[in-house]
Amino acid sequence: MSERKPRVFSGVQPTGNLHLGNYLGAIVRFVDLQQDHECIYCVVDMHAITVWQDPQELTRNIREVTAAFIATGIDPQKQIIFNQSRVSGHAELAWVFNCVARIGWLNRMTQFKEKAGKNREKASVGLYDYPVLMAADILLYHADKVPVGEDQKQHLELTRDIAQKFNNDYAPRIRELGLGEEFFPLPEPVIAGPATRVMSLKDGTKKMSKSDPSDLSRINLSDDADTIAKKIRKARTDPEPLPETVEGLKDRPEAANLVGIYAALAGISKEKVLEEFGGRGFADFKPALADLTVEKLAPINAEMKRLLEDPGYIDGVLAAGAERARAIAEPIYADVKRIVGFLG
Ligand code: AMP
Ligand code: TRP
Repeated sequence: MSERKPRVFSGVQPTGNLHLGNYLGAIVRFVDLQQDHECIYCVVDMHAITVWQDPQELTRNIREVTAAFIATGIDPQKQIIFNQSRVSGHAELAWVFNCVARIGWLNRMTQFKEKAGKNREKASVGLYDYPVLMAADILLYHADKVPVGEDQKQHLELTRDIAQKFNNDYAPRIRELGLGEEFFPLPEPVIAGPATRVMSLKDGTKKMSKSDPSDLSRINLSDDADTIAKKIRKARTDPEPLPETVEGLKDRPEAANLVGIYAALAGISKEKVLEEFGGRGFADFKPALADLTVEKLAPINAEMKRLLEDPGYIDGVLAAGAERARAIAEPIYADVKRIVGFLG
């Protein structure tokens, strides 16, 4: 019998403004992992509506994230690309996990605190429950690895806690049904590369984000070459030349961020970048970074535009992907129902 390849699952929210942080923190890794993994990449539309989304824009953004996946090099024939709401198992398993996860665990989630802000009473229940749905996404496929940016680390730890508690709570039943010792494997986060946390171009202490009101704070995958060059030119920096060593980037968040971006785009280490640019000023470094960014993003940008001209093709990819996703998810959820004791 042939062993199955390790399985990868990850998700991106269709909330507009896909940026360089999404690309370097997550999507580049999605592409690499295709080589020796079975990959499932999900456009998480149910997560998106935890904060208000205009319906027409949501539909457009679902297609845009799908186009970005394909344009960066994910092969929709070999891997699975689909949107979450098409596979009902995500919501169903999330309900079971709502009854496994503890309120105290969710109260510790820092992303909820950041996103809800001061007015927590007005946040949606969905926003609070967001990490439980994320655990369901991953565990519904018994995924082994989850490539994400640094900001998702805590959610991955929660996913492992939920898997472990389910496995423990139902251990005798799982054994009785002959479903192995560990029904849910504990998924490993893949948080790797020199840019797992890309920072705002306007403030090196803040994460680059889709929701930052200043468009100058981020490079969008949809930006053209002139816009990219302008944003890098205007990026905040300090007056010192670049250091010779990585230690010299300490306490220089803006410099560290730009060097990290360069390293990630060029596929080299930060040390290597500083071998070339150490001792030189930003007047030298910024144009080189702008050229490299344009060189890497322009083909993706062009391919996204081309794909988006044919929404029928994109919708076909998502429909076919959902069917394949369902074929994996349904038997796993059927086992969950038996484990829990649901009839039917
Ligand atoms: P989201 O847009 O929140 O769905 O994020 C999609 C993926 O991009 C997740 O894996 C995030 O961890 C990652 N990501 C988002 N922002 C950044 C950032 N500024 N730097 C690195 N990774 C990021
Ligand atoms: N929470 C992730 C983010 O905002 C998106 C996401 C939803 C996800 N479900 C997932 C990522 C499952 C990895 C695996 O970035």
